[in-house]
Amino acid sequence: MNQKKVILTGDRPTGPLHLGHFVGSLSNRVKMQDEYKQYVLIADMQALTDHASQPELIRKSILEVAFDYLSVGIDPNKSTILLQSLIPQISELTMYFLNLVTWNRLKHNPTVKQEIMQKNFQENVPAGFMIYPVSQAADITIFKANAVPVGADQLPMIEQTNEIVRKFNRMYNKEILIEAEGIVPEISRLVGIDGNAKMGKSLNNAIYLSDDADILKKKVMSMYTDPNHLKVEDPGKVEGNPVFIYLDVFDPDKENVRKMKEHYSKGGLGDVVVKRRLLEVLNSFLDPIRKKRKEFEKDPQYVLDLIFKGSVEAQKVAINTLREVKNAMGMY
Ligand code: TRP
Repeated sequence: MNQKKVILTGDRPTGPLHLGHFVGSLSNRVKMQDEYKQYVLIADMQALTDHASQPELIRKSILEVAFDYLSVGIDPNKSTILLQSLIPQISELTMYFLNLVTWNRLKHNPTVKQEIMQKNFQENVPAGFMIYPVSQAADITIFKANAVPVGADQLPMIEQTNEIVRKFNRMYNKEILIEAEGIVPEISRLVGIDGNAKMGKSLNNAIYLSDDADILKKKVMSMYTDPNHLKVEDPGKVEGNPVFIYLDVFDPDKENVRKMKEHYSKGGLGDVVVKRRLLEVLNSFLDPIRKKRKEFEKDPQYVLDLIFKGSVEAQKVAINTLREVKNAMGMY
């Protein structure tokens, strides 16, 4: 038996990944993969719950997301990358779990509630979307994950997962499934370039890991700053200013950031100067990632094979857990 603790994370493939993903979870995944057995799930079934009309986009994005994983340093020798739809056992476990959750509880899941508002579903929320936390619980528990590195917005999902685990173990009187711990980095959410509290694809305010230098320049130069900082000599606000938030996260020269903040607050430091520094910082952060991505883009078949092999390996674990689950329920 492998004694290593297990982590599982995932992303919906609805486009390439952005800096928000990096800050919230990718960086932890890269760090933790040495110590843990890591499963990285490309959640295409979950992506359908809010993109049912765009399966082509999802299909295309599977590869984009995998390129991003590999480019930021998720190492296929240490981590298993898998595709949700290739593991039907997850869907089966979801069906069993659905009976352990009340409709009312699902309606009050804070993440789901917020997404429903954001996505403008209004009265037409797909049932599949309402229950995606349950399928996410199946993602996590079928691999017996001890930990899930995620951004803070995903914590309600883990809470819901653990409720299901406790309910299952209590109801069927067997400690088959285990509870998971959310691993949230200190800064787990990145503001968008427009100053919106969250960077997101649907919000159109994201910087992608795959953005080239030209696109990056346009985005950084158009970033929202302090709206009252009109003239260079005016004192500017540093708190909540996205440009400084990004510098705090990505600029390795902390002393310089401190000085720039001081100067900006006093007045006399223009937005353009700060943005140029940010551009430089982000380019040196993204350059190695872009380079690696170019290499993988040359060989998509290699990456597809990797996902396929990972899914086959993961399925073995899933089959095992599902057998235990059915045994516990007396359904085998
Ligand atoms: N809900 C996550 C997101 O929207 C994606 C996801 C699917 C996930 N399954 C998961 C995250 C399991 C962590 C663990 O980004």
